[in-house]
Amino acid sequence: MNHDAELAAQVANADFDRANIARMYDYHLGGSANFAIDRETAEQALKIAPTERDYCFANRAFLGRAVRHLVTEVGIDQFLDLGSGVPTVGNVHEIAHEHNPRARVAYVDWEAIACYHARHLLGPDEDRVSVTEADVCDPDTVLNAPGVAGLLDFSRPIAVLAFGILDIIPSTDGASLVTAYRDACVPGSALAVSNNAQLARTDEEVAGLRFLLSTTSTPQLHLRTPEEVAALLPGYTLIEPGVVPAAQWRPDRPVSDEEARRGNVYGAVGLLPHRA
Ligand SMILES: C[S@@+](CC[C@H](N)C(=O)[O-])C[C@H]1O[C@@H](n2cnc3c(N)ncnc32)[C@H](O)[C@@H]1O
Repeated sequence: MNHDAELAAQVANADFDRANIARMYDYHLGGSANFAIDRETAEQALKIAPTERDYCFANRAFLGRAVRHLVTEVGIDQFLDLGSGVPTVGNVHEIAHEHNPRARVAYVDWEAIACYHARHLLGPDEDRVSVTEADVCDPDTVLNAPGVAGLLDFSRPIAVLAFGILDIIPSTDGASLVTAYRDACVPGSALAVSNNAQLARTDEEVAGLRFLLSTTSTPQLHLRTPEEVAALLPGYTLIEPGVVPAAQWRPDRPVSDEEARRGNVYGAVGLLPHRA
């Protein structure tokens, strides 16, 4: 059996007919949880906009630094990862457990291959990690899912992670969606967001990418300015340095403006203040 047939045999309800953002992202990051249509579409994206792979690595590295900061500097030990993707290098639970073995992580994604691989990677660790296959645009279902409500203690601070998701959901009103999750969290909780931007992309590249994405299972791309990203964290107090190109959010090494722009992604992390 070839690779794609083997993968298809593992997961009966995967959507094989259209390229899928979770699997394209996995391909860009060097993973193998993807089909020919995902690889071909990801390669076309690189032809249209050669910095597309920089986006994936900058976004993923930001996620790692943000989670590490939240565990080590803020003391958060519970994570709700919305649109968590196919497991790859530096998964949230791996980073969190490196610094706090008791940390709990609830992954949520609607892509069947991503969830299959996440469950496969985790094995039996249900006291600390769960995988829920659900639409993050339905907060009631997500928040009441056994993998979320049964694992996370909402009377204690939780970090909601929204990396590379608010820019591809159908609604442009990411703030309303975030608010539904925020309202389930107590003060001291956090929200981390990354969002696609037009930093190094030309107008032609953006138009080409939009057209390409219109053929995939997530046919929209909401690029945002720093002000628009800040508006995705309503009621949160931004941790320094605020909204910046993701590669320049508390980097582990000096990052030039040129390198940061190539990522085409903004990042921000906010904390829900305690009432006075
Ligand atoms: C670009 S990937 C980002 C993965 C990961 N959050 C990261 O930043 O490395 C976007 C992920 O969001 C998932 N996704 C998109 N729309 C979704 C929805 N409505 N509900 C759940 N997951 C969704 C995709 O399946 C994909 O895994």
